[in-house]
Amino acid sequence: MQIITTAREMQQACRRVKANRRLGFVPTMGALHEGHLSLVRRALAECDVVAASIFVNPTQFAPGEDYEIYPRCFEDDCTKLEATGTALLFAPSAAEMYPEGATTFVEVTGLGDRLDGASRPGHFRGVATVVAKLLNIVGSDSAYFGQKDAAQVAVLRAMIRDLNIPVELVACPIVRERDGLAMSSRNRNLSESDRGRALILHRALDAASRLVGDGEMNAEVLRSAMIEVFASDANVRVDYAAIVDPATLLPVDDTSRGALIAVAAWVGSTRLIDNVLIENLRADNLVREPFFMEEVHA
Ligand code: PAJ
Repeated sequence: MQIITTAREMQQACRRVKANRRLGFVPTMGALHEGHLSLVRRALAECDVVAASIFVNPTQFAPGEDYEIYPRCFEDDCTKLEATGTALLFAPSAAEMYPEGATTFVEVTGLGDRLDGASRPGHFRGVATVVAKLLNIVGSDSAYFGQKDAAQVAVLRAMIRDLNIPVELVACPIVRERDGLAMSSRNRNLSESDRGRALILHRALDAASRLVGDGEMNAEVLRSAMIEVFASDANVRVDYAAIVDPATLLPVDDTSRGALIAVAAWVGSTRLIDNVLIENLRADNLVREPFFMEEVHA
């Protein structure tokens, strides 16, 4: 695996690859776990060459957030990326990404202020800016993101569309620990007791999903069920428990056309997020399958 620290060299290396091969790109902030590696594997399955980046992006952390204590373990990350088949790793310094005098930012208005954007003002401006820069540097055919950060996927889809960035965004499923906790670099910052508490996010989503499975579509009923779960632990502070359109991130009244059920909560001093995507449950969608099967067998 080639490790590159300057934008110029990375751009040149990627251009050479792209001349005759499909290039996939997995941007990360490091402290890699199976969630990140699942993106690399998906990229490898769909592309000839995979590039990744490790950059703890200062502009997506507000003052007082966890930038300083964000877990960093570069050597270990390199071993994992190499073992998974990554060919190129871009690992720039903050000064390389934001040289003095850099004044251009990318803002996805509206979308960028919803869900995590509402509780972390400026967060998605930082994310959109750094991802736009990374996509310009790498110039990959496709870029892989986790559905774990569902609002991030919505914001970046909009950015790629609005700025005509020639890349295909691929959203990949959430990878979980055995007990259901969504994998996250921030899980490393949880104390042992908070690690146990953190399961409450999954439990809240489970309560809502079970109701959906029973035919409940009213968003307020689903929300109440989640709030009730969160209320069972006084040491957990809910940030949001929302039922929204996955593309606009605006609240929906019912889940009949599909919805994103998303939660964020403070467990001790660590903020965690998780979500579940409810597919389109409308009847006209459900009857399509038998027709398709007949066509196949005809
Ligand atoms: P980071 O939190 O390191 O995540 C990198 C990518 O891994 C993101 O697309 C994220 O959604 C995905 N990911 C994290 N946990 C996952 C899990 N349990 N299952 C599946 N995918 C998972 O997200 C960022 O970094 C940054 O905002 C970044 C896009 C790199 C811009 O700085």
